[in-house]
Amino acid sequence: MRACLRKPVDRTPVWFLRQAGRYMQEYREVRKHHALVEICKMPELAAEVTITAAEKLGVDAAIIFADLLLPLEPMGLDFEFQAGEGPVVHRPVRSVEDVRALRTDRAGELAYVARAIEKVAAHFRDRLGIIGFCGAPYTLASYMIEGGGSRNYIETKRMMYADSAAWAALLDKLVAVLTEYCQLQVEAGADMIQIFDSWVGSLGPSDYRAYVFEASKQLVRAVQAMGVPVIYFGVETAGLLGQMAATGADVIGLDWRQPLDEGWRAVGYEHAVQGNLDPITLFAPEEVLAARVKEILRAANGHVGHIFNLGHGIVPGTPVENVQAVVRMVKERGIGTRE
Ligand code: CP3
Repeated sequence: MRACLRKPVDRTPVWFLRQAGRYMQEYREVRKHHALVEICKMPELAAEVTITAAEKLGVDAAIIFADLLLPLEPMGLDFEFQAGEGPVVHRPVRSVEDVRALRTDRAGELAYVARAIEKVAAHFRDRLGIIGFCGAPYTLASYMIEGGGSRNYIETKRMMYADSAAWAALLDKLVAVLTEYCQLQVEAGADMIQIFDSWVGSLGPSDYRAYVFEASKQLVRAVQAMGVPVIYFGVETAGLLGQMAATGADVIGLDWRQPLDEGWRAVGYEHAVQGNLDPITLFAPEEVLAARVKEILRAANGHVGHIFNLGHGIVPGTPVENVQAVVRMVKERGIGTRE
Protein backbone atom coordinates (compact mmCIF):
# COMPACT_ATOMS: atom_id res chain seq x y z
CA MET A 1 0.00 0.00 0.00
CA ARG A 2 2.78 2.40 0.93
CA ALA A 3 4.57 1.75 -2.35
CA CYS A 4 1.33 2.28 -4.31
CA LEU A 5 1.03 5.68 -2.68
CA ARG A 6 4.75 6.43 -3.19
CA LYS A 7 5.53 6.51 0.50
CA PRO A 8 8.94 5.34 1.80
CA VAL A 9 9.28 1.60 2.51
CA ASP A 10 11.87 -0.54 4.37
CA ARG A 11 12.33 -2.69 1.27
CA THR A 12 10.78 -3.21 -2.15
CA PRO A 13 7.47 -5.08 -1.83
CA VAL A 14 6.86 -8.13 -4.04
CA TRP A 15 3.91 -10.16 -5.39
CA PHE A 16 3.25 -12.02 -8.65
CA LEU A 17 0.67 -11.81 -11.40
CA ARG A 18 -1.18 -15.15 -11.46
CA GLN A 19 0.45 -16.20 -8.21
CA ALA A 20 -2.37 -18.74 -7.66
CA GLY A 21 -2.66 -21.08 -10.61
CA ARG A 22 -1.86 -24.33 -12.30
CA TYR A 23 1.91 -24.16 -11.64
CA MET A 24 1.08 -24.79 -7.98
CA GLN A 25 0.34 -28.35 -6.78
CA GLU A 26 -2.16 -27.16 -4.15
CA TYR A 27 -4.21 -25.40 -6.85
CA ARG A 28 -4.13 -28.42 -9.17
CA GLU A 29 -5.53 -30.52 -6.31
CA VAL A 30 -8.46 -28.13 -5.88
CA ARG A 31 -9.00 -28.05 -9.68
CA LYS A 32 -9.32 -31.87 -9.75
CA HIS A 33 -12.61 -31.47 -7.92
CA HIS A 34 -13.94 -28.10 -9.16
CA ALA A 35 -14.16 -26.12 -12.37
CA LEU A 36 -12.49 -22.69 -12.45
CA VAL A 37 -15.72 -20.69 -12.28
CA GLU A 38 -17.02 -22.99 -9.55
CA ILE A 39 -13.99 -22.14 -7.39
CA CYS A 40 -14.63 -18.43 -7.99
CA LYS A 41 -18.25 -18.83 -6.86
CA MET A 42 -17.39 -20.67 -3.64
CA PRO A 43 -16.02 -17.94 -1.34
CA GLU A 44 -14.51 -20.41 1.13
CA LEU A 45 -12.56 -22.14 -1.64
CA ALA A 46 -11.58 -18.96 -3.51
CA ALA A 47 -10.28 -17.53 -0.23
CA GLU A 48 -8.35 -20.72 0.52
CA VAL A 49 -6.68 -20.69 -2.92
CA THR A 50 -5.78 -17.00 -2.50
CA ILE A 51 -4.35 -17.47 0.99
CA THR A 52 -2.45 -20.69 0.23
CA ALA A 53 -0.62 -19.12 -2.71
CA ALA A 54 0.30 -15.94 -0.83
CA GLU A 55 1.57 -17.85 2.22
CA LYS A 56 3.46 -20.47 0.25
CA LEU A 57 5.36 -17.75 -1.62
CA GLY A 58 5.81 -15.32 1.28
CA VAL A 59 4.70 -12.35 -0.84
CA ASP A 60 3.53 -8.95 0.43
CA ALA A 61 0.11 -8.94 -1.24
CA ALA A 62 -2.70 -11.39 -1.97
CA ILE A 63 -4.70 -11.00 -5.18
CA ILE A 64 -8.19 -12.38 -4.86
CA PHE A 65 -8.79 -15.57 -6.80
CA ALA A 66 -11.38 -14.73 -9.47
CA ASP A 67 -11.41 -14.34 -13.26
CA LEU A 68 -11.52 -11.39 -15.59
CA LEU A 69 -14.61 -12.69 -17.38
CA LEU A 70 -16.94 -13.11 -14.39
CA PRO A 71 -18.80 -9.80 -15.06
CA LEU A 72 -19.89 -11.09 -18.48
CA GLU A 73 -22.40 -13.43 -16.89
CA PRO A 74 -24.56 -10.83 -15.08
CA MET A 75 -24.40 -8.72 -18.25
CA GLY A 76 -26.17 -11.59 -20.01
CA LEU A 77 -23.29 -13.29 -21.85
CA ASP A 78 -22.62 -16.96 -21.18
CA PHE A 79 -19.07 -18.20 -21.45
CA GLU A 80 -17.07 -21.26 -20.58
CA PHE A 81 -13.45 -22.30 -20.35
CA GLN A 82 -12.75 -25.04 -22.85
CA ALA A 83 -9.71 -27.20 -22.15
CA GLY A 84 -6.78 -25.98 -24.19
CA GLU A 85 -8.85 -23.26 -25.88
CA GLY A 86 -9.20 -20.66 -23.16
CA PRO A 87 -12.46 -18.77 -22.67
CA VAL A 88 -15.29 -19.03 -25.20
CA VAL A 89 -18.25 -16.61 -25.28
CA HIS A 90 -21.11 -18.41 -26.99
CA ARG A 91 -22.95 -15.46 -28.53
CA PRO A 92 -20.43 -12.65 -29.05
CA VAL A 93 -21.50 -8.99 -29.19
CA ARG A 94 -21.44 -7.79 -32.80
CA SER A 95 -24.09 -5.08 -33.24
CA VAL A 96 -25.69 -2.12 -31.52
CA GLU A 97 -28.70 -4.37 -30.76
CA ASP A 98 -26.40 -6.85 -29.03
CA VAL A 99 -24.97 -3.99 -26.96
CA ARG A 100 -28.47 -2.76 -26.13
CA ALA A 101 -29.38 -6.22 -24.81
CA LEU A 102 -26.51 -6.21 -22.27
CA ARG A 103 -27.71 -5.72 -18.70
CA THR A 104 -26.10 -3.36 -16.22
CA ASP A 105 -28.45 -3.90 -13.27
CA ARG A 106 -27.17 -7.21 -12.03
CA ALA A 107 -23.57 -6.51 -10.95
CA GLY A 108 -24.73 -7.37 -7.42
CA GLU A 109 -24.67 -11.03 -8.50
CA LEU A 110 -20.87 -10.80 -8.32
CA ALA A 111 -21.11 -10.48 -4.52
CA TYR A 112 -19.53 -13.95 -4.22
CA VAL A 113 -16.18 -12.29 -5.01
CA ALA A 114 -16.78 -9.80 -2.19
CA ARG A 115 -17.57 -12.68 0.21
CA ALA A 116 -14.21 -14.28 -0.70
CA ILE A 117 -12.39 -10.98 -0.13
CA GLU A 118 -13.98 -10.68 3.33
CA LYS A 119 -12.57 -14.09 4.24
CA VAL A 120 -9.09 -13.21 2.95
CA ALA A 121 -9.17 -9.87 4.78
CA ALA A 122 -10.25 -11.55 8.03
CA HIS A 123 -7.37 -14.01 7.67
CA PHE A 124 -4.56 -11.56 6.92
CA ARG A 125 -5.87 -8.48 8.76
CA ASP A 126 -3.11 -5.86 8.27
CA ARG A 127 -0.30 -8.30 7.54
CA LEU A 128 -0.73 -8.30 3.74
CA GLY A 129 -2.15 -5.98 1.13
CA ILE A 130 -5.33 -7.36 -0.43
CA ILE A 131 -5.74 -6.72 -4.13
CA GLY A 132 -9.15 -6.81 -5.80
CA PHE A 133 -9.29 -6.67 -9.60
CA CYS A 134 -11.33 -6.31 -12.73
CA GLY A 135 -10.75 -6.20 -16.46
CA ALA A 136 -10.37 -2.86 -18.22
CA PRO A 137 -13.12 -1.76 -20.63
CA TYR A 138 -11.04 -2.44 -23.78
CA THR A 139 -9.80 -5.88 -22.77
CA LEU A 140 -13.25 -7.04 -21.62
CA ALA A 141 -14.90 -5.59 -24.73
CA SER A 142 -12.43 -7.57 -26.84
CA TYR A 143 -13.51 -10.86 -25.21
CA MET A 144 -17.19 -9.95 -25.62
CA ILE A 145 -16.81 -9.06 -29.30
CA GLU A 146 -14.27 -11.67 -30.43
CA GLY A 147 -15.94 -14.40 -28.40
CA GLY A 148 -12.59 -15.41 -26.87
CA GLY A 149 -8.90 -14.67 -27.11
CA SER A 150 -7.70 -13.13 -30.37
CA ARG A 151 -4.61 -12.58 -32.43
CA ASN A 152 -5.63 -9.58 -34.52
CA TYR A 153 -8.74 -8.15 -32.81
CA ILE A 154 -10.43 -7.68 -36.15
CA GLU A 155 -14.05 -7.73 -34.93
CA THR A 156 -13.22 -5.51 -31.96
CA LYS A 157 -11.50 -2.92 -34.12
CA ARG A 158 -14.17 -3.22 -36.79
CA MET A 159 -16.81 -2.15 -34.26
CA MET A 160 -14.50 0.49 -32.80
CA TYR A 161 -13.83 2.11 -36.20
CA ALA A 162 -17.15 1.58 -37.97
CA ASP A 163 -19.88 1.62 -35.34
CA SER A 164 -18.90 4.29 -32.88
CA ALA A 165 -22.37 4.37 -31.29
CA ALA A 166 -22.23 0.66 -30.46
CA TRP A 167 -18.62 0.95 -29.26
CA ALA A 168 -19.31 3.94 -26.99
CA ALA A 169 -22.45 2.29 -25.57
CA LEU A 170 -20.54 -0.93 -24.88
CA LEU A 171 -17.74 0.85 -23.01
CA ASP A 172 -20.28 2.90 -21.04
CA LYS A 173 -22.05 -0.25 -19.92
CA LEU A 174 -18.77 -1.89 -18.99
CA VAL A 175 -17.66 1.12 -16.93
CA ALA A 176 -20.99 1.07 -15.06
CA VAL A 177 -20.82 -2.64 -14.24
CA LEU A 178 -17.10 -2.62 -13.41
CA THR A 179 -17.48 0.39 -11.12
CA GLU A 180 -20.18 -1.37 -9.12
CA TYR A 181 -18.13 -4.58 -9.09
CA CYS A 182 -15.08 -2.74 -7.73
CA GLN A 183 -17.27 -1.00 -5.14
CA LEU A 184 -18.34 -4.43 -3.85
CA GLN A 185 -14.70 -5.48 -3.60
CA VAL A 186 -13.58 -2.32 -1.82
CA GLU A 187 -16.44 -2.51 0.69
CA ALA A 188 -15.44 -6.13 1.37
CA GLY A 189 -11.87 -5.13 2.25
CA ALA A 190 -9.80 -4.84 -0.93
CA ASP A 191 -6.96 -2.39 -0.14
CA MET A 192 -6.29 -1.62 -3.81
CA ILE A 193 -7.72 -2.51 -7.20
CA GLN A 194 -5.76 -3.74 -10.20
CA ILE A 195 -7.34 -3.04 -13.58
CA PHE A 196 -6.14 -5.60 -16.16
CA ASP A 197 -5.90 -4.15 -19.65
CA SER A 198 -4.02 -7.23 -20.75
CA TRP A 199 -4.58 -6.81 -24.49
CA VAL A 200 -4.42 -3.00 -24.78
CA GLY A 201 -1.01 -3.37 -26.45
CA SER A 202 -2.92 -4.36 -29.61
CA LEU A 203 -3.79 -0.67 -30.01
CA GLY A 204 -1.65 2.08 -31.48
CA PRO A 205 -1.45 5.36 -29.53
CA SER A 206 -3.96 7.22 -31.74
CA ASP A 207 -6.58 4.51 -31.37
CA TYR A 208 -6.03 4.32 -27.61
CA ARG A 209 -6.50 8.08 -27.44
CA ALA A 210 -9.61 8.13 -29.66
CA TYR A 211 -11.47 5.01 -28.52
CA VAL A 212 -10.26 3.78 -25.13
CA PHE A 213 -8.63 6.49 -23.01
CA GLU A 214 -11.81 8.17 -21.71
CA ALA A 215 -13.47 4.96 -20.56
CA SER A 216 -10.25 3.75 -18.88
CA LYS A 217 -9.85 7.09 -17.13
CA GLN A 218 -13.47 7.08 -15.97
CA LEU A 219 -13.05 3.67 -14.38
CA VAL A 220 -9.72 4.61 -12.75
CA ARG A 221 -11.19 7.80 -11.28
CA ALA A 222 -14.37 6.06 -10.10
CA VAL A 223 -12.33 3.47 -8.20
CA GLN A 224 -10.02 6.09 -6.70
CA ALA A 225 -13.10 7.96 -5.47
CA MET A 226 -13.80 4.86 -3.35
CA GLY A 227 -10.60 5.67 -1.44
CA VAL A 228 -8.22 3.02 -2.77
CA PRO A 229 -5.22 3.19 -5.11
CA VAL A 230 -5.43 1.75 -8.63
CA ILE A 231 -2.83 -0.37 -10.42
CA TYR A 232 -3.36 -0.13 -14.19
CA PHE A 233 -1.72 -3.04 -16.01
CA GLY A 234 -1.15 -3.98 -19.64
CA VAL A 235 1.48 -5.69 -21.79
CA GLU A 236 3.33 -4.47 -24.89
CA THR A 237 2.42 -0.97 -23.81
CA ALA A 238 5.70 0.87 -24.41
CA GLY A 239 3.95 3.25 -26.83
CA LEU A 240 1.00 3.82 -24.50
CA LEU A 241 2.62 4.44 -21.10
CA GLY A 242 2.20 8.21 -21.14
CA GLN A 243 -1.50 7.92 -21.86
CA MET A 244 -1.99 5.11 -19.36
CA ALA A 245 -0.41 7.34 -16.71
CA ALA A 246 -2.68 10.21 -17.80
CA THR A 247 -5.68 8.15 -16.67
CA GLY A 248 -4.44 9.13 -13.20
CA ALA A 249 -3.78 5.55 -12.05
CA ASP A 250 -1.53 5.44 -8.98
CA VAL A 251 0.59 2.54 -10.27
CA ILE A 252 1.35 1.49 -13.85
CA GLY A 253 2.29 -2.11 -14.67
CA LEU A 254 5.38 -2.48 -16.87
CA ASP A 255 6.26 -5.50 -18.97
CA TRP A 256 9.81 -6.73 -19.65
CA ARG A 257 10.19 -5.50 -23.21
CA GLN A 258 11.92 -2.36 -22.04
CA PRO A 259 14.18 -1.69 -19.04
CA LEU A 260 12.28 -0.66 -15.92
CA ASP A 261 13.95 2.75 -15.70
CA GLU A 262 13.02 3.56 -19.30
CA GLY A 263 9.41 2.55 -18.68
CA TRP A 264 9.27 4.53 -15.43
CA ARG A 265 10.58 7.65 -17.16
CA ALA A 266 7.81 7.30 -19.78
CA VAL A 267 5.23 6.88 -17.02
CA GLY A 268 6.64 9.73 -14.93
CA TYR A 269 8.05 9.49 -11.40
CA GLU A 270 4.87 10.98 -9.92
CA HIS A 271 3.39 7.50 -10.44
CA ALA A 272 4.46 4.23 -8.86
CA VAL A 273 5.33 1.29 -11.13
CA GLN A 274 4.99 -2.48 -10.89
CA GLY A 275 7.15 -5.01 -12.68
CA ASN A 276 8.89 -6.14 -14.70
CA LEU A 277 10.59 -9.57 -14.72
CA ASP A 278 9.94 -11.74 -17.80
CA PRO A 279 7.84 -14.61 -16.34
CA ILE A 280 9.82 -17.11 -18.42
CA THR A 281 13.01 -16.11 -16.56
CA LEU A 282 11.50 -18.26 -13.79
CA PHE A 283 12.65 -21.25 -15.86
CA ALA A 284 16.28 -20.03 -15.91
CA PRO A 285 19.16 -21.22 -13.66
CA GLU A 286 19.35 -19.38 -10.34
CA GLU A 287 22.34 -17.20 -11.33
CA VAL A 288 20.51 -15.85 -14.41
CA LEU A 289 17.38 -15.27 -12.36
CA ALA A 290 19.40 -13.48 -9.66
CA ALA A 291 21.07 -11.26 -12.25
CA ARG A 292 17.71 -10.21 -13.72
CA VAL A 293 16.20 -9.52 -10.30
CA LYS A 294 19.23 -7.40 -9.37
CA GLU A 295 19.04 -5.52 -12.66
CA ILE A 296 15.41 -4.58 -12.00
CA LEU A 297 16.08 -3.47 -8.43
CA ARG A 298 19.03 -1.43 -9.65
CA ALA A 299 16.92 0.20 -12.38
CA ALA A 300 14.41 1.31 -9.72
CA ASN A 301 17.36 3.24 -8.31
CA GLY A 302 15.84 3.94 -4.89
CA HIS A 303 12.89 5.94 -6.24
CA VAL A 304 9.78 5.69 -4.08
CA GLY A 305 7.00 3.53 -5.50
CA HIS A 306 8.49 0.38 -7.03
CA ILE A 307 6.51 -2.85 -6.56
CA PHE A 308 8.47 -5.90 -7.71
CA ASN A 309 6.43 -8.19 -9.96
CA LEU A 310 6.54 -10.01 -13.27
CA GLY A 311 5.78 -8.28 -16.55
CA HIS A 312 2.91 -10.77 -17.06
CA GLY A 313 1.47 -13.81 -15.32
CA ILE A 314 3.22 -16.97 -14.10
CA VAL A 315 2.71 -19.72 -16.68
CA PRO A 316 1.87 -23.41 -16.04
CA GLY A 317 4.98 -25.52 -15.43
CA THR A 318 6.91 -22.77 -13.63
CA PRO A 319 9.00 -24.26 -10.78
CA VAL A 320 7.49 -22.97 -7.52
CA GLU A 321 10.92 -22.96 -5.85
CA ASN A 322 12.14 -20.39 -8.39
CA VAL A 323 9.22 -18.10 -7.57
CA GLN A 324 10.08 -18.50 -3.88
CA ALA A 325 13.73 -17.76 -4.69
CA VAL A 326 12.74 -14.44 -6.28
CA VAL A 327 10.83 -13.50 -3.12
CA ARG A 328 13.97 -14.28 -1.08
CA MET A 329 16.15 -12.23 -3.42
CA VAL A 330 13.86 -9.20 -3.28
CA LYS A 331 13.61 -9.48 0.50
CA GLU A 332 17.43 -9.60 0.76
CA ARG A 333 18.27 -6.97 -1.82
CA GLY A 334 15.17 -4.81 -2.14
CA ILE A 335 16.21 -1.32 -1.28
CA GLY A 336 14.49 0.88 1.24
CA THR A 337 13.39 4.26 -0.12
CA ARG A 338 13.37 7.73 1.31
CA GLU A 339 11.02 10.63 0.70
O1 CP3 B 1 -3.46 -15.44 -8.57
C1 CP3 B 1 -4.02 -15.08 -9.61
O2 CP3 B 1 -3.64 -14.10 -10.28
C2 CP3 B 1 -5.20 -15.90 -10.08
C3 CP3 B 1 -6.47 -15.15 -10.28
C4 CP3 B 1 -6.74 -14.84 -11.74
C5 CP3 B 1 -7.29 -15.75 -12.68
N1 CP3 B 1 -7.52 -15.09 -13.84
C6 CP3 B 1 -7.61 -17.18 -12.46
C7 CP3 B 1 -7.43 -18.09 -13.61
C8 CP3 B 1 -6.58 -13.62 -12.37
C9 CP3 B 1 -5.98 -12.33 -11.83
C10 CP3 B 1 -7.09 -13.78 -13.69
C11 CP3 B 1 -7.18 -12.66 -14.67
C12 CP3 B 1 -7.42 -12.97 -16.09
N2 CP3 B 1 -8.30 -13.88 -16.63
C13 CP3 B 1 -6.83 -12.27 -17.16
C14 CP3 B 1 -5.90 -11.10 -17.01
C15 CP3 B 1 -4.60 -11.55 -16.53
C16 CP3 B 1 -3.50 -11.55 -17.52
O3 CP3 B 1 -2.74 -12.52 -17.50
O4 CP3 B 1 -3.34 -10.56 -18.27
C17 CP3 B 1 -7.33 -12.80 -18.35
C18 CP3 B 1 -6.92 -12.39 -19.73
C19 CP3 B 1 -8.26 -13.80 -18.01
C20 CP3 B 1 -9.08 -14.65 -18.92
C21 CP3 B 1 -8.57 -16.04 -18.83
N3 CP3 B 1 -8.82 -16.89 -17.77
C22 CP3 B 1 -7.69 -16.70 -19.72
C23 CP3 B 1 -7.17 -16.13 -21.02
C24 CP3 B 1 -7.42 -17.95 -19.16
C25 CP3 B 1 -6.45 -18.97 -19.70
C26 CP3 B 1 -7.05 -20.18 -20.24
C27 CP3 B 1 -6.02 -21.28 -20.19
O5 CP3 B 1 -6.48 -22.42 -20.26
O6 CP3 B 1 -4.82 -21.03 -20.07
C28 CP3 B 1 -8.13 -18.04 -17.94
C29 CP3 B 1 -8.17 -19.20 -17.03
C30 CP3 B 1 -7.67 -18.99 -15.64
N4 CP3 B 1 -8.04 -17.96 -14.83
C31 CP3 B 1 -6.77 -19.83 -14.93
C32 CP3 B 1 -6.63 -19.28 -13.64
C33 CP3 B 1 -5.83 -19.82 -12.50
C34 CP3 B 1 -6.09 -21.10 -15.43
C35 CP3 B 1 -7.02 -22.11 -15.90
C36 CP3 B 1 -7.68 -23.04 -14.89
O7 CP3 B 1 -7.37 -23.09 -13.68
O8 CP3 B 1 -8.53 -23.78 -15.38
